Amino acid sequence: MSKLLLNTLNGKLSDRVPFWFMRQAGRYLPEYRKIRASVPDFLSFCYNPELATEVTLQPIRRYGMDGAILFADILIVPDGLGQKVWFEVGHGPRLTPVTNTTELDHLSMDGFHSKVGNIYETIRRLKVTLPQEVTLLGFAGAPWTIATYMVEGAGSKDHGAAKSWGYSDPIGFKALLDLIVEATAEYLIAQIEAGVDAVQIFDSWAGGLSETTFNTWVIEPTREIVNRIKAKYPNTPIIGFPRLAGPLYEQFIAKTGVQAVSIDTAMPLEYARTHIQNKLCIQGNMDPRLVVTGGAEMLKEADRILNAFKNGPHVFNLGHGFVPETPPENVEALVNHIKAYRR
Ligand code: CP3
Repeated sequence: MSKLLLNTLNGKLSDRVPFWFMRQAGRYLPEYRKIRASVPDFLSFCYNPELATEVTLQPIRRYGMDGAILFADILIVPDGLGQKVWFEVGHGPRLTPVTNTTELDHLSMDGFHSKVGNIYETIRRLKVTLPQEVTLLGFAGAPWTIATYMVEGAGSKDHGAAKSWGYSDPIGFKALLDLIVEATAEYLIAQIEAGVDAVQIFDSWAGGLSETTFNTWVIEPTREIVNRIKAKYPNTPIIGFPRLAGPLYEQFIAKTGVQAVSIDTAMPLEYARTHIQNKLCIQGNMDPRLVVTGGAEMLKEADRILNAFKNGPHVFNLGHGFVPETPPENVEALVNHIKAYRR
C-alpha cells in the first residue's frame, strides 16, 4: 500500500490532502496525560521505547493522521553529547549552559549512539506496529535552535547569550555548531536506518536573525546536515522548518537542498504559493490557537489554506505545535473537514 504523505513530500498530487500535526502527541490528549503521569521525568519517558511507541500511536488511533511523528524531543541531541538536560514542571527545559570553548570541550560524540539508542528502538517498534499506509517521521532540532538552548541553558526570548557568543567569538561558536551538525546528521541517519520514512528539522528560533547570521547559523549548518544525509540516503525526504523566517525561506530553499518546508502561521498564503510551493512541497500552516477556539472560524481558515495550496503538493499541518489546552473534539472536527476535502 502506498503512503500518501510520503508521495506528497516527493511532489506527487492526490485528490485528498494528507495531514499530520506538530505536537499531535501530547498533553491535550487525556490518554497521553495518563501515561505521562506514570513517568515524572520527561527524558526518561522519551527514552522508554514501550511508552514512547504507545504515545506516538495514540493520535493515529484517535484521528487517523497520514503521518506519525516519533515521540522524543529535540533536546535528546545535547543530552547525547553529554550536556546535563532536565525538564522542570512549569519552566520547560533546563540545561547546564555551555558558553565558551572550554565548556564545549566537555561534550563529544563518544557514547552518543548508546546513550540515545532507545530512540532507535522506538522507531523499530513503530515500524512494525504502524498501519502500512502511515508515513513515519523522524526529527531533530536544527543547529541554531539547539545552540540557543545549549548556550542559554533554557528557553529564552531573544537568544541574547547565543547571539553574543556567535558575534564575539565566531570561531568558537562555529565549533559548537559543527559538533551539533555532526551529532544531528548521525542521529538522523540512524533514525533512517531504524525505519523512518522522512525527517523534519525544527528550527523554531530561525526568525529574528539578520540575513548574514541566517546564512551562517541557519542555512550553512542545515545544508551540511542535508548533504551528509543525502550522501547516504538520497531518497529520504527532508522537511525544513525555519520558523518565522519570512522571505528568507527563499534563500533557505535555494541553498539547503531540503525536499519540503513547513511554514509558520505568519506566512501569507499567496506569497507562500507563488514563492515556495512553486519550488517544493509545502506543509502548514493553521494557527494552533484557532484550534483551541474551534467552530466555524477554524473550518473557514482550514478551507482558506486548502484552497490556496490545492494546485501543488501540500501537507495540511499547523504553523506551530498544538497547545495543551486544545479541546480534542476541535481536533476531530478539523480532521473530519480535511479528510472530506477534495482538490
Ligand atoms: O507529537 C510530536 O510533535 C512529537 C514529539 C515532539 C515533542 N517535542 C514532545 C514534547 C517534538 C517534535 C518536539 C520538538 C520540540 N521540542 C521543539 C521544536 C518544535 C517547537 O515546538 O518549536 C522544541 C523547541 C522543543 C523543546 C521543548 N520540549 C520545550 C520548549 C518543551 C516544554 C514546553 C512545554 O509545553 O512544557 C518540551 C517538552 C515537550 N516535548 C512536551 C512534549 C509532548 C511536553 C512535556 C510534557 O509532557 O510534560
